[in-house]
Amino acid sequence: RIEKAGYKHFMAKEIAEQPVVIAGAMRHYVRDDGLHLPEGVDFSDVDRITMVACGTASYATHVAKYWFEQIAGLPCDIDVASEFRYREPPLSAKQWALFVSQSGETADTLAALRYTREKVAKIVAVVNVPTSSIAREADLALPIMAGIEVGVASTKAFTCQLITLALLALKAATDRGRLDAAGLARHLADLAALPGLMNHALALSPSIATIAEELAEAQDVLFLGRGAMFPLALEGALKLKEISYIHAEG
Ligand code: F6R
Repeated sequence: RIEKAGYKHFMAKEIAEQPVVIAGAMRHYVRDDGLHLPEGVDFSDVDRITMVACGTASYATHVAKYWFEQIAGLPCDIDVASEFRYREPPLSAKQWALFVSQSGETADTLAALRYTREKVAKIVAVVNVPTSSIAREADLALPIMAGIEVGVASTKAFTCQLITLALLALKAATDRGRLDAAGLARHLADLAALPGLMNHALALSPSIATIAEELAEAQDVLFLGRGAMFPLALEGALKLKEISYIHAEG
């Protein structure tokens, strides 16, 4: 089942798959009558969430922090698992801890999850591999529906993590009375437009290839962004570093 389907690299194939897997993730959690997240995803009594992850998954939590705080009014801490697990952060019995991981096996993220056990109201995993350790050890696991990701540099898993986290933030906003049915419908309609917009972006590949030829000569690249685009700048810099070994900063 795992083949490159005419693409030169798995990473290229996985970038191209994004509109399809994003639409699949939406179908998994959204129906005509609204959001259908698993039973137990109810933020009514939650006073704070802490999100912990590594690398690209951690940048997805950075983006989601803006959504949880701005749309749902829910205080949200984010932490990279390799620091969280050694810091012994105080946690409250009314809060949730949310762990994001493509593989569901990253050692630091798993250790951080184990640290929160019996200290928080609920441990939620947002994972791509539903049989993984992180999924099995959480109280609740939400699959991101990206399909197998072979490329070492995460691409389609990142966008599917963002979709899943966006839907969670919308659920938090409705549970906490910050979003009415019409507001939710507007957000869901915006998300439903994403696969089409991604197809437009992917159609720019030939012009992007031309720019990349120029960039290949660069020694340092700065990625700039503000608000929820700031973590995207960090993620862009990470991708360029990982793939090209060109120095980049967000
Ligand atoms: C970046 C990348 C890594 C992973 C990180 C976490 O492209 O792939 O930074 O994002 O190692 O891995 P998971 O999500 O499997 O916990």
